[in-house]
Amino acid sequence: MVSLKTEIGSISLERPGIVASGIMDETGPSMVRMIESGAGAVVTKSVGLEPNAGHANPCFTEVSGGYVNAMGLPNPGIELFKEEMDVAVPKGKIVGSIYGAGPEDFSKLAGRMEDYGACAVELNLSCPHAKGYGMEVGTDPAMVKAIVSAVKSAVSIPVWAKLTPNTHILGDIGMAVQDAGGDAVVAINTLKAMVICPEIGRPLLSNKFGGLSGAAVKPVGVRAVYDLRTVLDIPIVGVGGIETWRDAAEYIMAGASAFQVGSAIGTVGTDVFARINDGLSSFMEEYGYSSIADMTGVAHD
Ligand code: FUM
Repeated sequence: MVSLKTEIGSISLERPGIVASGIMDETGPSMVRMIESGAGAVVTKSVGLEPNAGHANPCFTEVSGGYVNAMGLPNPGIELFKEEMDVAVPKGKIVGSIYGAGPEDFSKLAGRMEDYGACAVELNLSCPHAKGYGMEVGTDPAMVKAIVSAVKSAVSIPVWAKLTPNTHILGDIGMAVQDAGGDAVVAINTLKAMVICPEIGRPLLSNKFGGLSGAAVKPVGVRAVYDLRTVLDIPIVGVGGIETWRDAAEYIMAGASAFQVGSAIGTVGTDVFARINDGLSSFMEEYGYSSIADMTGVAHD
C-alpha cells in the first residue's frame, strides 16, 4: 500500500507537494483553492513589515521553458496579511514566507506569522532582485546564521530557509542554516536573469533583472538538492521547474522530503498537484516504494 504522507521534521503532510511562494498564495481564498486542489500545504507570498507596491510593469514575461519575473515583493504588509491568514489557516497547513533586511525584521515577522497560525515560517533569503533583501542577505553565511538564530529564538514553530542557486557556496549557506538550528532548507529560488527587447534596445523588465523559474531551472534545482543532501542532516524541500510526477521524483531521489510547485500552476493549471499525486502513487506502486521516505535520497546510494 503506497502512502504519499511525508514528514519535514515535526511537520507531517498528507501529500508531499506544496505551493511555492509567489503564485496563488496572495489571498486567503486562493490558498484555500490550492489546498482543495491537492496541495499538501501552501507557502504564502513573501510578506514584509510594511505594505510594498512592488516594481512597475513590465515585471513578468514568458521565455522558453519558463518565466522571468521581478515583481518586487509586492504585499500588503504583515498587519493586513492577517486577513488572508484568517481565511486560509482553518483550511490547511500554511507556511508563512517572510522577507526582511536582517535578524530583527525576520524575528518580528516570524512572530506575527506564528500568531496568525502558520505551521512554519519560510525565510526568503533568496529573491535575486530585491535591493537589500533576499539573496543580498542570503549569500553571506554569517548573516544567514544570525537571521536563523534570531528567528529560532523568537518563535516555536519550525523555521525553513529558502536558498538561492545564485552562489558558489550553497553548501556553506546550508550549513549556516543547520548550525543556527534551522529546521529545513528549501532549494531553489529563481536564477538571476535578464530579457532584452530588441525593438526598444533595452531590458524588458522595469527592474532590468529578474528571476528565471519554470522547467528550464529543474536540473539546477535537482543538482542543488543533491549537493545539499551530501552536507546536511536537516530535511530539504525541493523546488524549481516541477511540472510532472517525474520531476517530483527526481527531487525526492536527490534528497528532498517534499517539493514545491510554482510556475507549473500557471503552465499546467491548478490541477497540477492532483496529476502529480496520481502519477507518483502509480510509479511508487510499480517500483516498490511504499513511502516518500523510502524514495528520499535513493540517487545517492
Ligand atoms: O519579486 C518577487 O516578488 C519575487 C520574489 C522571490 O523571488 O523570492
